[in-house]
Amino acid sequence: EDGAGFVGAADTDYAEEEARRKSAAAFATVHQQLGKTYLPLINGEYTNTSIFIDSLNPSNFSQVIGKVGLISIEQAEQAMKAAKAAFPAWRKTPAKQRADILRKAGDLMSQRRAELSAWIVLEVGKPVKEADAEVSEAIDFCKYYADEMERLDKGVNYDVSGETNRYLYQPRGIAVVISPWNFPLAIACGMTVAALVAGNCTLLKPAETSSVITAKLTEILVEAGIPQGVYQYVPGKGSQVGAYLVNHPDTHVIAFTGSQEVGCRIYAEASILKPGQKHMKRVIAEMGGKNGIIVDESADLDQAVVGVVQSAFGYSGQKCSACSRVIVLESIYDSFVERLVEATKSLNIGETELPGTQIGPVIDANARDRIREYIEKGKSEAKLALELPAPAQGYFIGPVIFSEVPPNGIIAQQEIFGPVLAVIRVKNFEEALAVANGTNYALTGGLYSRTPSHIQQAQQEFEVGNLYINRTITGAIVARQPFGGFNLSGVGSKAGGPDYLLQFLEPRTITENI
Ligand code: SER
Repeated sequence: EDGAGFVGAADTDYAEEEARRKSAAAFATVHQQLGKTYLPLINGEYTNTSIFIDSLNPSNFSQVIGKVGLISIEQAEQAMKAAKAAFPAWRKTPAKQRADILRKAGDLMSQRRAELSAWIVLEVGKPVKEADAEVSEAIDFCKYYADEMERLDKGVNYDVSGETNRYLYQPRGIAVVISPWNFPLAIACGMTVAALVAGNCTLLKPAETSSVITAKLTEILVEAGIPQGVYQYVPGKGSQVGAYLVNHPDTHVIAFTGSQEVGCRIYAEASILKPGQKHMKRVIAEMGGKNGIIVDESADLDQAVVGVVQSAFGYSGQKCSACSRVIVLESIYDSFVERLVEATKSLNIGETELPGTQIGPVIDANARDRIREYIEKGKSEAKLALELPAPAQGYFIGPVIFSEVPPNGIIAQQEIFGPVLAVIRVKNFEEALAVANGTNYALTGGLYSRTPSHIQQAQQEFEVGNLYINRTITGAIVARQPFGGFNLSGVGSKAGGPDYLLQFLEPRTITENI
């Protein structure tokens, strides 16, 4: 089937002066609003809490982006009750009407594009160009899942003479969405609106470090017309509130994006039948990656170097799709590493508000310390090829490249989630594929090659959910590169693809003898 046809939102062209002016104005407005308080949305009301956290700017952690109220277990229970109460009406709401709420939300995001990008930049330290692309992705999720729900709502007729057979989809019930900080708007929005448009009442628990952006998403969904209790915003401690909602007998679907450790725990906990529970829970978990790019002897090295640098160091390596291993054939190894190091040195590190910046900070002190530990481990098991200095203020880490990394070394196997790249030397293409496949993950992968037989072999044998040939391995686009992996990279089907909504729906067959 030809899937082409969906047209996504266009990113901002910062080469245009008008766009830069708009962006600067949005930053000025957002700066004036820093430090405000954001409350959870429970049963249509912004509700006070006893605990608040400060969400800080990782580029400058003396700057409070917002104060966010964290819910208690009692409030989580109130939200769950409100969701249950809202479900009968929401499930009866026609799919077209639910879809139109998503379309309206997408339009509101388009109108607020520059402002939303600014919040992303300031709260999670993502350079502005990438933040802008993230707003496009969030808009695309709204519009695409709206279309998808209308498509699925038609169902399938298998009528024969004397008998009608209708294949229909109904919502599952209550969805709990647990979203990550690295795509704080797009991934939170994608999981949430998918659950909602399918007719489920949905509770969104964001990562603490991105609670202000998800509060903005909440404003937008409310303005777009989501009814009371149908969508609730429940920031809270993952280990308490997150665990409570995952384990709740009334939860039907859990959509999670985050670490492998938490994903595995959710999967295990969700499998336990609780007293009063009459269904098995469905878990969608998008976890980590240890994504590799193979560069063979026929590759266009200029293209390969640029692609690897962008894939490895974009958003400081904090994308689950990021390249953290580059697997290079012996005959070109030395010249590739030399060029890779030179290209990486030219990256602009620093001020995330400027469109020319490529590298910002990492998310918080824990991340910085963990990444630094990996860099030390790397120094003991491989050759340090580059370690760039970084600004002293904020949680910055300059890009680091290790060469001669053993394929089974710690930095070649464990997800670092930072700007640290392992270069691995291999003798031939067979070995390159074996190394590429030699981790527990299977999320993204890449190949730079001009050899048709290698390209064909990679298509068959490179075990990843998203394989990219002769291009970067990050930045999947909705309804163009449906995104997600398998093995320990996750369970469930691909975001932005034709199977995604099915996970939030229960199919039924209705046969009538006539
Ligand atoms: N979808 C993002 C990408 O492709 C990662 O989550 O980069």
